[in-house]
Amino acid sequence: MRTQVAIIGAGPAGLLLSRLLERRGIDAVVLESRDRAYCERRQRAGMLEQGTVDVLRACGAADRLDREGLTHHGLELRFGGRGHRIALSELTGGKAVTIYAQTEIVKDLIALAPEGRIRFGAEVVEVDPVTPRVTYRENGRLHTLDCDLIAGCDGFHGVSRAAVRGSTVFEREYPYAWLGVLADVPPSTEELIYCHHERGFALHSLRSPQVSRLYLQVDPTDQPSDWPDERIWAELRTRFATTDGWTLKDGPIREKAVTPMRSFVTEPMRHERLFLAGDAAHIVPPTGAKGLNLAVSDVTALAGAIADGGLDGYSQSRLRQVWRAEHFSYWMTTLLHTDPTADAFARRLQLSHLEYVVSSAAASTTLAENYVGFAYDGR
Ligand code: PHB
Repeated sequence: MRTQVAIIGAGPAGLLLSRLLERRGIDAVVLESRDRAYCERRQRAGMLEQGTVDVLRACGAADRLDREGLTHHGLELRFGGRGHRIALSELTGGKAVTIYAQTEIVKDLIALAPEGRIRFGAEVVEVDPVTPRVTYRENGRLHTLDCDLIAGCDGFHGVSRAAVRGSTVFEREYPYAWLGVLADVPPSTEELIYCHHERGFALHSLRSPQVSRLYLQVDPTDQPSDWPDERIWAELRTRFATTDGWTLKDGPIREKAVTPMRSFVTEPMRHERLFLAGDAAHIVPPTGAKGLNLAVSDVTALAGAIADGGLDGYSQSRLRQVWRAEHFSYWMTTLLHTDPTADAFARRLQLSHLEYVVSSAAASTTLAENYVGFAYDGR
């Protein structure tokens, strides 16, 4: 088989790249080792920057997003039993964010793909960045796909990253993880609440007027089975408690999962004719909600570079943007979580930092401009 662009991975990065190339008349094949149901079921993030929404709209993939997405103009930072609103739109000249689950974007993009363009159950066994060529197994048989270039969009655990020779890795692990739950209960808040508590971080997000998405900082060795529903609700109530009697509505929990937290960047994002995008090249901890947005801006840049021949600048220009998101995600994470290894001095510094962020217009603006999406090219 032959195509112009071999895309490895049918997550949001690979699927969106395929869509963007299709709109430019560029041929591509998406190889995905899992089946379609698996790809459509994975619960992931749900906060979209304005630039992400704009890209999806421009490529005709935002019909349902425009109907069902929830626009947010602010968020709350809560600590010491008090909430403080960060007025995102006021602080950023009118920018807003949209709540719409990543898994819904995946469904929308799969539904739009032409027949045969995505091959589910196709496991890539070899990536040859020089030829370039991808070998994959489908229905027990090996096939080769020759192409002009390969896009590695298969995430942190994928095969693409391993095919990049001579790369340098930068990483940081955190002494905590997130327990994420999806609950059939109307959200107890209109805007997201990022909460710092001495027992650990908690986040109240949502998926719809009927479905809440909640996260708790837990020990990285914890299993979902360590957290029966009643323990989750009790811990959420403790961490979110305010001095003015705010209440958290509870309800049936539909899903639970523990996600490790890490920061990771591999440089460069290119080797010969292989280009990395999304989690294959970089991981951010989820506190800043940057992972999906960064993947979208990677493939938007990659599609443009493929179309106009600007591939030589891809890695360098993306890494500049990637490191901005890495720094912001690290900053939000360490600002809001409780580090079990921190000494009393570090704890006091953290509380002072939180106080400053909610009291200073300059500091709130720094948070806001990064949260809604800061781009060096001013997108
Ligand atoms: C989510 O809704 O899943 C979500 C929102 C904001 C974050 C992380 C996750 O920072």
